[in-house]
Amino acid sequence: MNVLVTGGTGYIGSHTCIQLIEAGLTPIIIDNLYNSKQSVLSRIEQVSGTRPLFIQADVRDKDALKKVMLEHQIEAVIHFAGLKAVGESVEKPLEYYDNNVNGTLVLIDAMRESGVKRLIFSSSATVYGDPASVPITEDFPTSATNPYGRSKLIVEECLTDFQHANPDWSITLLRYFNPVGSHPSGMLGEDPQGIPNNLMPFVAQVAVGRREFVSVFGNDYPTKDGTGVRDYIHVMDLADGHLAALKHVGPKAGLHIYNLGTGNGYSVLDMIQAFEKACGKPIPHQFAPRRSGDIAECWADPSKAQQDLHWQATRNLEEMTADGWRWQSANPQGYPDT
Ligand code: NAD
Ligand code: UD1
Repeated sequence: MNVLVTGGTGYIGSHTCIQLIEAGLTPIIIDNLYNSKQSVLSRIEQVSGTRPLFIQADVRDKDALKKVMLEHQIEAVIHFAGLKAVGESVEKPLEYYDNNVNGTLVLIDAMRESGVKRLIFSSSATVYGDPASVPITEDFPTSATNPYGRSKLIVEECLTDFQHANPDWSITLLRYFNPVGSHPSGMLGEDPQGIPNNLMPFVAQVAVGRREFVSVFGNDYPTKDGTGVRDYIHVMDLADGHLAALKHVGPKAGLHIYNLGTGNGYSVLDMIQAFEKACGKPIPHQFAPRRSGDIAECWADPSKAQQDLHWQATRNLEEMTADGWRWQSANPQGYPDT
């Protein structure tokens, strides 16, 4: 089965391609390399034995999408491509709506014209806004507090309306919690450009000496140690979640929504300590004011995915940090340029 993977050279997409290949499926990647490097393809090949077909193109280029779908008899699309930095989205909202919302609309149009009716979309726990309680189930109310989150919410709504109008389509919205870690080989991992926005890539860069210390944003939250609590999930578990959705939702028509999380919450200090254990050295950190827009705690109730997709996260915190460190220590500057 040929699966079109948009954004497939990115962090989650590349790990998912490996799991697709291991399962005997054929990923075909479209990416404009805005936030990734082509050298990831050699790493996928070294780990899996297969170099996926890669087309450098933008998801807003309908002709390029249609050409790939028709030439390669694509049966399903996994749509990772998009922009994801919350702070940047506040500065450049139109870029976010154009890439994330318009990009998805163009993709759907290309799928429709090519007769492809199965889509898995990368959504985010950010669509729950500041949840009234935890754990979060899929029927919690949704809201957005920044343009990135709003772009995800708008796409979810567009896809919901579209599926209602086209009941023979199978559309799955996967709401990821906080992906961390890397492939256990240490050959693939997260390679943010510039200063990392998210906690764990920042911690990893401090461990490897690229940055001096971690700022812990807030120590006065109503949590066990005062720092923010999140549901960190190993990127390989997340990758497996896509495979489970392909397998168990299959071509079944409908709109399917799943949380992909572990159901456990860890604080910022828990994560720093776990990484210290993995790398065997202290991670300098300092308390800093809360980051605007942050919530105190957020973790998933993943039981719907467990029931319907027969999927659950199996990799623990030790594996998340050990694998993350293996990648960062072997690739302190990330992927090579070529
Ligand atoms: P990433 O930036 O590593 O990967 C995204 C890829 O999409 C990159 O390779 C980038 O070059 C490509 N891309 C961006 N705009 C494009 C366009 N217009 N046309 C073609 N390619 C384009 O990000 P990721 O962490 O792998 O995230 C993948 C998806 O999951 C995104 O949609 C993101 O919003 C969503 N998500 C990520 C997280 C997270 O913490 N990483 C959490 C929730 C949801
Ligand atoms: C962030 C995004 C969210 C997105 C998610 C996954 C924001 C406000 N939210 O979520 O929309 O879906 O990433 O990509 O950016 N922290 C520090 N120091 C740091 C970085 C983070 O203390 O240098 C803390 C944060 O305050 C938070 C926790 O670490 O408590 C996790 O932060 P982060 O990794 O950025 O993820 P989220 O904020 O959960």
